[in-house]
Amino acid sequence: KFSNLMSFVGENIIYKATCGSTNTEAMKLLSAENVPEGTVIITDNQTNGRGQRANTWTSEPYKNLTFSLILYPTWVMIQNSFLLNMLTAISIYKTLNTYIPNGLFVKWPNDIYYQNKKIGGVLIENLINQNKIKTSIIGIGLNINQTTFSLTNITSLSLVCGHEFNLSSLLTQLTDTIQTEYVLLAQGEIDILQKDYLAALYWVYEQRTFQDKAGYFQGVIQGVDAIGRLVVQKENGQIAYYECKEITFIA
Ligand code: BTN
Repeated sequence: KFSNLMSFVGENIIYKATCGSTNTEAMKLLSAENVPEGTVIITDNQTNGRGQRANTWTSEPYKNLTFSLILYPTWVMIQNSFLLNMLTAISIYKTLNTYIPNGLFVKWPNDIYYQNKKIGGVLIENLINQNKIKTSIIGIGLNINQTTFSLTNITSLSLVCGHEFNLSSLLTQLTDTIQTEYVLLAQGEIDILQKDYLAALYWVYEQRTFQDKAGYFQGVIQGVDAIGRLVVQKENGQIAYYECKEITFIA
């Protein structure tokens, strides 16, 4: 699908000293001009970062990676859009895994965790055209050099590793990894992606406590289905499928 197999992810970098949300900035840019595929919009000071489920994403200025990547995966049907969440989560996982060999997980759908603490998050916003993805804005927030957090269930790469990291070399490592995974996806290698995702999945195959609209229950995560729903086997053996927001991880 790519006639030009040179790297393009992260080749064009647009830097904003400060901005509200790089995802919103990407959206504005796309409506104003042609943007080359693989363009990254990055800021050192994101003031109004957005997360999934209408959450906010806060990041101390100059300490972390907060950026959005623009891709045109026009061959991906909307019902398969979870492939992009898997691609992004796995690319982050593989990148951080080079510094954190143990204890790193992808928490469904696409949070990055070290043990039971969140280290990064992903917010993907897709523009759709005739049941296919036209444009994907992949927003990534990773806690890298920040060492103090107001919440206790959050950590950073430097807190885990005990030293600071160079943000631009980490960005390059991550965009290179995304490029590799994206080319694999374009070639239809979704089995590899699914296998990698399952292997990294937080709480997979473990007996755990969850909460859904009916209340608390014990269950075991079996994986994720083709449309990205979490597949959980409940105590009574019944298999349940959850969309985002429909299930909470308890303990
Ligand atoms: C989440 O964990 O809920 C997702 C957080 C995503 C944060 C990133 S930071 C760069 C990009 N711009 C935003 O406004 N959000 C994403």
